[in-house]
Amino acid sequence: MNTTRMLTLTLVIGLAATTGCAYRHYLGMHGPSIRHAPDIHDVSVTDDADCLGCHSPDNRQDGTPATSHPGFKGCIKCHNDPLPATPGR
Ligand code: HEC
Ligand code: HEC
Repeated sequence: MNTTRMLTLTLVIGLAATTGCAYRHYLGMHGPSIRHAPDIHDVSVTDDADCLGCHSPDNRQDGTPATSHPGFKGCIKCHNDPLPATPGR
């Protein structure tokens, strides 16, 4: 294999690895988005303390999934991904 081929191959693999941001969620970097339940999650609720008011393992209500990571900071950074685009929008 010559150098040009090597370089091209490196570029192609590099691109494939860095694009496709929309799929990061599925690779586990982001959690499920609160936008899945818009009727429950008010857009004005963004503070960790507010999230924990419902999702802390200590005081959650029946049916509310408890977070496995109540100590994390910035819940909204991982849980506010836009939903996958639906056709026609
Ligand atoms: C670094 C990114 C990150 C941060 C910050 C983060 N989370 Fe998560 N969260 C995740 C991931 C990834 C999952 C899915 C895997 C799991 O359940 O552990 C998840 C899962 C959850 C779930 C479970 C959803 C279900 O269907 O069972 C809840 C509830 C949750 N997070 C709440 C919170 C709250 C509240 C905070 C802030 C205190 C928070 N998260 C901060 C990444 C994050
Ligand atoms: C008023 C209580 C309440 C507050 C405040 C609240 N949640 Fe929730 N959350 C719920 C309930 C109830 C569900 C379950 C919804 C369902 O299963 O349809 C839920 C579901 C979730 C899920 C799982 C979504 C899914 O589709 O798997 C995540 C993640 C989550 N909340 C994160 C958060 C974060 C982050 C915040 C703060 C910005 C927050 N919640 C604030 C009640 C709340």
